[in-house]
Amino acid sequence: MTRAAVLAGVGATVPPRVVTNDELARRLDTSDEWIRTRTGIVQRHVIDPGMTTGDLAVEAGQRALKSAGTTTVDLVVLATTTPDRPCPATAPSVATRIGLVGVPAFDVAAVCSGFLYALQVGSDAIAAGHAERVLVIGAETFSTILDPADRSTAAIFGDGAGAVVLRAGQPDEPGAVRHVQLGSDGSMADLITVRGGGAEERSGGRPPLPEDAYFRMAGKSVFFTAVRRMAESSRTVLERTGWQVTDVDRVVAHQANVRIIHAVAEQLGIPADRAVINIDRVGNTSAASIPLALADGAADGRLTPGDRVLLTAFGGGATWGAATLTWPDVMVG
Ligand code: ACO
Repeated sequence: MTRAAVLAGVGATVPPRVVTNDELARRLDTSDEWIRTRTGIVQRHVIDPGMTTGDLAVEAGQRALKSAGTTTVDLVVLATTTPDRPCPATAPSVATRIGLVGVPAFDVAAVCSGFLYALQVGSDAIAAGHAERVLVIGAETFSTILDPADRSTAAIFGDGAGAVVLRAGQPDEPGAVRHVQLGSDGSMADLITVRGGGAEERSGGRPPLPEDAYFRMAGKSVFFTAVRRMAESSRTVLERTGWQVTDVDRVVAHQANVRIIHAVAEQLGIPADRAVINIDRVGNTSAASIPLALADGAADGRLTPGDRVLLTAFGGGATWGAATLTWPDVMVG
């Protein structure tokens, strides 16, 4: 019988420090009312000085392993846009700190779609028989790349991490990852970017500009493409799975903006109340967003065993994707 990756554990973490909209409004030309109504965000979590993406990834990874009742995996895939260093990847250090010394570990960079890209890699490794268990983590510290003076990004992003453990199983089991569909369009690279710090800047023959170290997003230009791509990708993955939109019990979309999530649901013809929303508490946590929402949904009962779940994301690159799975009987770690 065909092998499939089955979700066997889930865990997440956010740093303790909460930054409310009102706190932001004290230092930026913004307001709680603007941020709530335009994005759905009420607060976000931000790391304290000295903490890193790797720290959050270790915590989320350990929780997912505990949830799965295992201490061993054959592969660690870490989706992040904010690695601890440009080189080497953050995943090997995370794996070692979790006690997974010797296990192959690498980073995947697909910005807010990163978790879906990493999920595809992990699922394929299991389906191909290269791994029995895979730890897939999404972890971000966007606070380290935000321009504190840019209200259009400082109000949106937060820090956090989420992780799942995949194990080898059968496609008809609860928890089975049914299909993943991914895409990209590099002509949109400038719309979501950190210009500095890479080969382009180093070989450019001019001194680095301090402002190029910051994350920039042309939010309005991205908004409608994000809705279109997430809806298209969702339709494709639903068709491949053999599900009608009426079969979808829960949508767990990248938490970029509550208006985007509702617009995607509307385009698909799925009632908005089937969407799992946690952007109000955590903001946009990029690659950590979907696993954080999975952990929150499982912890508070919005995701129940047997639910047919649609995941979808859009992010820098541009990149996008969607996936289908049935929700397993798991306790959040
Ligand atoms: N407070 C007050 N005013 C603000 C703020 C703020 N925090 N941010 C922007 N504004 C202002 C702008 O300056 C602009 O003012 P102007 O008209 O005088 O120029 C006005 O509000 C409208 O700005 P828009 O950018 O048009 O606001 P919009 O309603 O589009 O909301 C947002 C901005 C929230 C970023 C939205 O465009 C969005 O969510 N875009 C999609 C983001 C996304 O999906 N990204 C991909 C994933 S993220 C990733 O990959 C990392």
